[in-house]
Amino acid sequence: MNTFSFTPLGLEHFPLLHQWMEHPHVWQWWGEKRSWTLHDVQEKYHSYTFGYRIEQGEKKGIFSFIVHFQDRPIGFIQTYNACDFPRDGFNVKDIQWEPSQSLAALDFYIGEPDCIGMGLGAEILKNFLENHVFRYFDACLVDPKKKNKIAIQTYVKAGFSTVHEWDSGIAMVARKQDLKNPIIILGSSRSDGNTFKAIKMVIQDMPVPIVDLRELNIDQYDYTYANAKDDFIPLAEKMVRYNPIILATPVYWYSMSASLKTFIDRWSDLLDTRKDIGRRLAGKDLYVISSYGESVPRGFEDAFSQTCEYLDMQYGGCYYFYSGDNPGLAQKNSLLASQFSNRIFR
Ligand SMILES: Cc1cc2nc3c(=O)[nH]c(=O)nc-3n(C[C@H](O)[C@H](O)[C@H](O)COP(=O)(O)O)c2cc1C
Repeated sequence: MNTFSFTPLGLEHFPLLHQWMEHPHVWQWWGEKRSWTLHDVQEKYHSYTFGYRIEQGEKKGIFSFIVHFQDRPIGFIQTYNACDFPRDGFNVKDIQWEPSQSLAALDFYIGEPDCIGMGLGAEILKNFLENHVFRYFDACLVDPKKKNKIAIQTYVKAGFSTVHEWDSGIAMVARKQDLKNPIIILGSSRSDGNTFKAIKMVIQDMPVPIVDLRELNIDQYDYTYANAKDDFIPLAEKMVRYNPIILATPVYWYSMSASLKTFIDRWSDLLDTRKDIGRRLAGKDLYVISSYGESVPRGFEDAFSQTCEYLDMQYGGCYYFYSGDNPGLAQKNSLLASQFSNRIFR
């Protein structure tokens, strides 16, 4: 069953919009903090039902929808070309953006008070991005007020990350390629060993990029950033263009490999000298592929899940590939791999 649907805004929705705009949780952030009569709503949104708004004397496309959850209208969402309408507090040209890529913007609220706090917002946004925005645009911008913490958290969960900040607001962007665009980072003491086999079992023939840490020079974390010129920053810049991020490691002495640990230690650089890269980790999904020869160590995933909590990433779990001699355990590798693969890629 399709839980969410988006109905183009029609004249018949105006009383509903008016009702929602009077609720304090909407009024606070939406509608310029003035009181709206039904007539005001009709006046403002009339042209929206025909897919445009007049901006500086010109018709600019704007596509507005009523969000339905299990067939009940619960909120409002609209999208348009980000360059068509000026933003409050910043210029779209000022944000870190590849000019060759098209950028939409969206505005969204849940109007029904009993639908707030259920985690629906992020799901609605992901669904809307995939089915409406990313059919036409490479990326999408939102610009919540800094005080609107709930909106910011929701945008992070939906895959948006911060690209620009000013005194009162934040510009956040979700990229089409962020939706399902995985990268694998392999940290094993051999490039074609069991952990590599585990990766292949998960990705099969899919052309997922694999970065082998053995081929790079990534030194240990240094408090004075003495290693800033090694291969870490180029890899971090590459990594944040992907989502999900999949870390692959053998179990060595009940824990992840030293090479993967060294790589993760260096993420500290992204919290200090290269915050611009670090911010783009927020909202991404992280998975782990691991191979082990004896047994899965207690608490093996704690370091990954807690790192995700700290960085506002979502931890999605681990695929364990058994490389030992027990045929009963080895036999489960393939089924577990395909279940894991389904979770990541579909
Ligand atoms: C240094 C070292 C430590 C290991 N420690 C463990 C361990 O604590 N638990 C375990 O189940 N297997 C352990 N193993 C076995 C490996 O996890 C297993 O062979 C794995 O599949 C190796 O993957 P690779 O070929 O990518 O290195 C260890 C192997 C090595 C070389």
